[in-house]
Amino acid sequence: MTLSDLDDLLAARHSCRAFRADPVPRADIERIVSTARRVPSWCNAQPWQLVITSGAETDAFRAALMEEVQRGTAKPDLAFPSGYSGVYQDRRRTCGWALYEAVGVEKGDRAGSAAQMMKNFSLFDAPHCAIVSSPAELGGYGAMDCGGFVTAFTLAAQALGVATIPQAAVASYAPFLHRYFGIGEDRLILCAISFGYSDTGHPANAFRTERAPLAEFVEWRG
Ligand SMILES: Cc1cc2nc3c(=O)[nH]c(=O)nc-3n(C[C@H](O)[C@H](O)[C@H](O)COP(=O)(O)O)c2cc1C
Repeated sequence: MTLSDLDDLLAARHSCRAFRADPVPRADIERIVSTARRVPSWCNAQPWQLVITSGAETDAFRAALMEEVQRGTAKPDLAFPSGYSGVYQDRRRTCGWALYEAVGVEKGDRAGSAAQMMKNFSLFDAPHCAIVSSPAELGGYGAMDCGGFVTAFTLAAQALGVATIPQAAVASYAPFLHRYFGIGEDRLILCAISFGYSDTGHPANAFRTERAPLAEFVEWRG
């Protein structure tokens, strides 16, 4: 195993926003989850819990979520960022514009951008969705551990040719998700991961995001 193998995997992964309908075999999903669980966590608590949907269960969830969104009941368990400023705002805008440009939504087209955003709630037509939660009592560190798990999930999936997208947008409907999946109130719903096989020809999958150079985020001492 070399670092360039890992680099290749990281470079190949991207967030997929249009999926084909064909399902991922259960054995492959189990393999992905089994690999992802190797990540470190504070005290080895392994705080992640997943509900994974397939087939008709995904379609029923998708329909129920879209109905819920019409009711406007968004209330995330983990507070959404209070703002993005400076470079964070720049990077957020850059990736948003790249998506809109790829799908042909022009700047100022609010209806077009809202329609694209709404695709979050149809899970970008993915055949599977994983809801990721962490014990509330572990707070931010549980969420941090789950972040590592989510990243490893996306990479393990990529290694099997399975496309993914982590979605905070879905987690914003936390009260509904708790009810729908029977997830206890003692857990924080952190995000969803929609996954399946990429519709590679779809314009939403045609752009890639950049990363900042080290000089922007590393302060060397000594
Ligand atoms: C925790 C988390 C939540 C995210 N939530 C969403 C989301 O709700 N909708 C979406 O379209 N993308 C979402 N993304 C994907 C990011 O926009 C994406 O990772 C980022 O722009 C970098 O692009 P890449 O994944 O293609 O490399 C999320 C990513 C993470 C890690």
